[in-house]
Amino acid sequence: MAALNEKKTCSQRMENFNRFVWNPDTRQLMGRTLINWVWISLYYVAFYIVMTGLFSLAIYSLMRTISPYTPDYQDRLKSPGVTLRPDVYGEGGLEIYYNVSDKNSWEKYVTTLHKFLSAYNTTAQHANINCTSEKYFFQKSFLGPNKTKLSCKFTSDMLENCSGLANSTFGFPEGKPCLIIKMNRIINFLPGNGTAPRVSCTAQHEDFSPLELQYYPVNGTFNLHYFPYYGKKAQPTYSNPLVAVKFLNITRNTEVTVVCRVIGAGITSDNPHDPYEGKVEFKMRIQD
Ligand SMILES: *[C@@H]1O[C@H](CO)[C@@H](O)[C@H](O)[C@H]1NC(C)=O
Ligand SMILES: *[C@@H]1O[C@H](CO)[C@@H](O)[C@H](O)[C@H]1NC(C)=O
Ligand SMILES: *[C@@H]1O[C@H](CO)[C@@H](O)[C@H](O)[C@H]1NC(C)=O
Ligand SMILES: *[C@@H]1O[C@H](CO)[C@@H](O)[C@H](O)[C@H]1NC(C)=O
Ligand SMILES: *[C@@H]1O[C@H](CO)[C@@H](O)[C@H](O)[C@H]1NC(C)=O
Ligand SMILES: *[C@@H]1O[C@H](CO)[C@@H](O)[C@H](O)[C@H]1NC(C)=O
Ligand SMILES: *[C@@H]1O[C@H](CO)[C@@H](O)[C@H](O)[C@H]1NC(C)=O
Ligand SMILES: *[C@@H]1O[C@H](CO)[C@@H](O)[C@H](O)[C@H]1NC(C)=O
Ligand SMILES: *[C@@H]1O[C@H](CO)[C@@H](O)[C@H](O)[C@H]1NC(C)=O
Repeated sequence: MAALNEKKTCSQRMENFNRFVWNPDTRQLMGRTLINWVWISLYYVAFYIVMTGLFSLAIYSLMRTISPYTPDYQDRLKSPGVTLRPDVYGEGGLEIYYNVSDKNSWEKYVTTLHKFLSAYNTTAQHANINCTSEKYFFQKSFLGPNKTKLSCKFTSDMLENCSGLANSTFGFPEGKPCLIIKMNRIINFLPGNGTAPRVSCTAQHEDFSPLELQYYPVNGTFNLHYFPYYGKKAQPTYSNPLVAVKFLNITRNTEVTVVCRVIGAGITSDNPHDPYEGKVEFKMRIQD
């Protein structure tokens, strides 16, 4: 108790501290002998070398298991989404509303289609190969340039009357518009189980008489040689195949709800949580 109350002078404290830093009697530096400090330092150096090694090994083995060609975490989506071009969204979803006598009302659709199809012109597709087989295009090796796989050409002329080449207005001013259906890519997905999946469009309500439609390419099919898709790194020039639908007798001045489904094994279109899975629904109203 007495020791605690004892007031040390400043110089005493200083001397104690100096003694702690270097004690000449015991030859200790900050409470340890020099050789002790060397051992401790060596221990920590070795410890960190081992830790760094373990960490690098863990990262290395992780990287080894990751293939750069396929994503590791694909979401559980099994059935592809389907989209429409022109993709003009109104208050009630996709809406194709226009007046045949008003050029301004349909010009935006035509522009959208031309812009979309420019990725399918012969210049844009020159890196891809002509495919004629009607089978899945499996590729085990990398035959393309720079360790890539080959992709099949899809050129806009395959959409014939809906290509925008012979008739640059896609039939909009005649009230017989062409719309384009695209199926989203899923890596390694084989749609149709050996039969080319096809697009089929219907007016949704029973009271509408059936639509008269033309599909391009014939029968509205997605040729099997565009599948499987191996991913962006393996197939950098891949482009999704398309199906164009020409609506030949849409009743004027009424709103028609149309559903276009992709039909084929492995493609479902009845998911209540995803209205764009396997199908696309839109409203169309052509006025005059
Ligand atoms: C193809 O489209 C690109 C734009 O994507 C354009 O620059 C090019 O001129 C087009 N080629 C032809 C032959 O139309
Ligand atoms: C692919 O087909 C187009 C038209 O059918 C032809 O002009 C072109 O030369 C063909 N390309 C190859 C590499 O066979
Ligand atoms: C291959 O890669 C090299 C360098 O990355 C590039 O210069 C060349 O244009 C590529 N070749 C093709 C055909 O993409
Ligand atoms: C393309 O359109 C022309 C003129 O409208 C028509 O005669 C022809 O049958 C159409 N082609 C196809 C494949 O439907
Ligand atoms: C092309 O479109 C014009 C209107 O822009 C139309 O008068 C003509 O009949 C169309 N041609 C064909 C072959 O459909
Ligand atoms: C795919 O087709 C083959 C016969 O062509 C059949 O045996 C098989 O059960 C089919 N698979 C699916 C998932 O429909
Ligand atoms: C469209 O054409 C089909 C076949 O020609 C016919 O059965 C149907 O009634 C027509 N629909 C409308 C809305 O005119
Ligand atoms: C289109 O479908 C019909 C009937 O299913 C079939 O007979 C025809 O061979 C098909 N055409 C092509 C080019 O696949
Ligand atoms: C379509 O456009 C024409 C010309 O601008 C106009 O006279 C007509 O009333 C329009 N139709 C509708 C249903 O708005």
